[in-house]
Amino acid sequence: MEKYLEYLQGRIICRNNIIKQLYSFIGIQDEPMPYSIFVCGHVATGKSLVVETMLSFLNYNTSIINCIEHTNSKHIFDYILSDLSLNGNEFLLNTKLQHRCDNIVDFIINIREISINDTRPIVLVFDKAEKLRDIDSSLLPALSRLKELSNVNVCVIFISDIVWEKFRAKVGVYEPIKVHFSQYTRHEFAEILLTYKPHDYEVAFYKNYLNLFLSVFLRFCRDLNELRYMAKINFKKYIEPIETDKSKIDDTATLWRNISAVFKSNLEVIYLRVSSEDFAKRSQLSKEIESTTKLALSFELPYYAKYMLIASYLASYNPAKEDKHLFIKQKIGKRRKAKRKPSKVNAPCGPYNFPVSRMLAIFCAILDEKVDINASLLAQIPSMCQLGLLSFVGNYNLDELKLKCCVSYDFILVIAKTVGFTIQNYLYNLMH
Ligand SMILES: Nc1ncnc2c1ncn2[C@@H]1O[C@H](COP(=O)(O)OP(=O)(O)OP(=O)(O)O)[C@@H](O)[C@H]1O
Ligand SMILES: [Mg+2]
Repeated sequence: MEKYLEYLQGRIICRNNIIKQLYSFIGIQDEPMPYSIFVCGHVATGKSLVVETMLSFLNYNTSIINCIEHTNSKHIFDYILSDLSLNGNEFLLNTKLQHRCDNIVDFIINIREISINDTRPIVLVFDKAEKLRDIDSSLLPALSRLKELSNVNVCVIFISDIVWEKFRAKVGVYEPIKVHFSQYTRHEFAEILLTYKPHDYEVAFYKNYLNLFLSVFLRFCRDLNELRYMAKINFKKYIEPIETDKSKIDDTATLWRNISAVFKSNLEVIYLRVSSEDFAKRSQLSKEIESTTKLALSFELPYYAKYMLIASYLASYNPAKEDKHLFIKQKIGKRRKAKRKPSKVNAPCGPYNFPVSRMLAIFCAILDEKVDINASLLAQIPSMCQLGLLSFVGNYNLDELKLKCCVSYDFILVIAKTVGFTIQNYLYNLMH
């Protein structure tokens, strides 16, 4: 164990407890290994790193399988057998081509053969093990008791970011020993990111930068890979003032002022791999469209509320006398297509007030299904008024309650698109 910890020096940070735990399961050569170990934790918490580093130290006969790369169990068996044989001696290398197997029984016989010629313990690692569920449902039960079935000193390690309870194939499965990789704390993130410090800067200086960086980014992102990338590209911007004037290296306030805007713009494009320059270059128009889309989608309206908003928009911008013509005809199949291409120039004038009853009639006409106009449906109207999408006009006398639609054409286009409704076909101004 001491030797292993020595070997690890600086390679893996903040995972000492798990490293010791895993080592105690399979690291001690004279003791039998467990049947299987289930390693679980969020993305980029070091699962693959810890397991693979330990196996590279132990020098067992191992095979690491990334389940995403395989489509059927035969594939997996062939891959493992050729891996285990390659790790072995010359004799096995020569007999490697003999390993051809279609099913689990052949696979077990082959594993047994390999273990006779190569007496090292065998460890099979199934990374992204949740994919096994799609490949073959009988694979998991068989692998979880491979040691018993083959009578060989073999241990199977499953790695996944999904909890064991979600692996529903429970019949005949031996419970594995579970090892959980918890999410890193802010302090741990800082320590790991510090190992990627550029050489020409002091530890204290980079720590200071990481502190600022994490205070912004950690609220939105916990993926170490992403944070590492973002820390790297933002650092280049952070040091720009120093490159022109070396004395600024201690002036944290100036550096912060310089970087805070960059952080903010990069936060918007996190995961998108768009640099902030690209972002700035994009035309004003596309920005406008994007912000309308974002705004429209940010409301997350319920399905029927979206149709109500569409109906309100149609009621606000179509003349009431055309309703019959527009909606009844379309309902019985003579769907009229917009003759002209819809464009912003053609965008209808309005909005006009309309009574709630008219909106509800349009609502029923444009919905393909039959719906009950009940209280919970009507309750969407005041909610949308509160959100500023509709507004009440005139007095609150229920008989004459009138509304007005307050959203723009672009906005309603986005909403209509989310429910698959072609609003252009129903707008009077676009058709005449
Ligand atoms: N404790 C750590 N010390 C040093 N580097 C780490 C540590 N944890 C993760 N890393 C680094 O972060 C990256 C992601 O780690 P790794 O691939 O092991 O995560 P994972 O848990 O297997 O993620 P996934 O679920 O996506 O497979 C690797 O480049 C690894 O070197
Ligand atoms: Mg991994």
